[in-house]
Amino acid sequence: MQRRLRVWDLPTRLFHWSLAACVVGAVVSVNIGGNAVGWHFRFGYAILALLLFRVVWGFAGSRYARFASFPPSLGAALRHLRAPSAASAPPGHNPLGALSVYAMLLALAVQAGTGLFANDAIMWDGPLKNLVSNAASDALTRVHKINRFVVIALVLLHIGAIAFHRLARGHRLVGAMVRGDALIDPADGAPPEAARDDAALRVRALVALVACAALVWALVSLGGKTGGGF
Ligand code: HEM
Ligand code: HEM
Repeated sequence: MQRRLRVWDLPTRLFHWSLAACVVGAVVSVNIGGNAVGWHFRFGYAILALLLFRVVWGFAGSRYARFASFPPSLGAALRHLRAPSAASAPPGHNPLGALSVYAMLLALAVQAGTGLFANDAIMWDGPLKNLVSNAASDALTRVHKINRFVVIALVLLHIGAIAFHRLARGHRLVGAMVRGDALIDPADGAPPEAARDDAALRVRALVALVACAALVWALVSLGGKTGGGF
């Protein structure tokens, strides 16, 4: 008989689905082109704020959201690949998932960071483009254009891995990222501890998110355009 265990606090879940929506929004809007590129910028700013929030949450969040609970380790990831599958997924990111989480966060940070200095050679300049030379802006635009493939590949791999866990192992990871609870099989050993997800934690997350958004606002305003082109 499986039992429910809170694994992902509400802020982590909202972070996840907002990030996914903004990444899709950024890719779709830039492909529509024209005035939609303004939305590409806005989605990019939102992604920057979300990434900053996730860094804060990696230290201030609940048990399984903390970086300390899923340290990046190639050795552990390889051991995880060789390990026999457990009947129920242990709570939190497994060592292989951890590497993919860090890779996605890093690739998205590079993507959004280079976007701030990018230009499309016609009418759209990232808000900080004027802070660097034209040659540097062109180089960062090239990184932006190449790294998009890294972002897209990592996201596809991520979704593929989630599907693999569902189909080959029976792990319902998506349900946990939606409702917050994982299904734990008590037969797997001592029951793991639940994550905190109370009102005080959620208020802490809101304060952190507002601070991160303000920081991004200040950053994109550095280029001189009022409000960073919002
Ligand atoms: C652009 C799209 C997406 C991006 C950028 C993305 C990114 C991420 C990130 C950064 C995490 C780590 C969460 C954290 O610890 O803060 C994560 C976890 C997760 N994502 Fe996504 N995601 C995307 C789409 C999806 C989709 C479409 C699904 C559902 C099919 C999904 C299901 C999950 C699940 C289940 C986890 C938790 C994995 C685990 O238990 O270790 N993601 N995702
Ligand atoms: C993670 C967030 C982002 C993603 C996934 C993303 C993705 C993309 C993609 C797919 C393109 C199209 C490249 C092409 O078709 O040639 C592009 C172009 C561009 N992006 Fe982003 N971007 C992001 C963030 C940003 C941000 C924050 C800014 C600036 C505020 C920005 C500014 C630009 C500019 C100026 C271009 C035009 C470059 C060109 O096509 O010549 N991007 N981006």
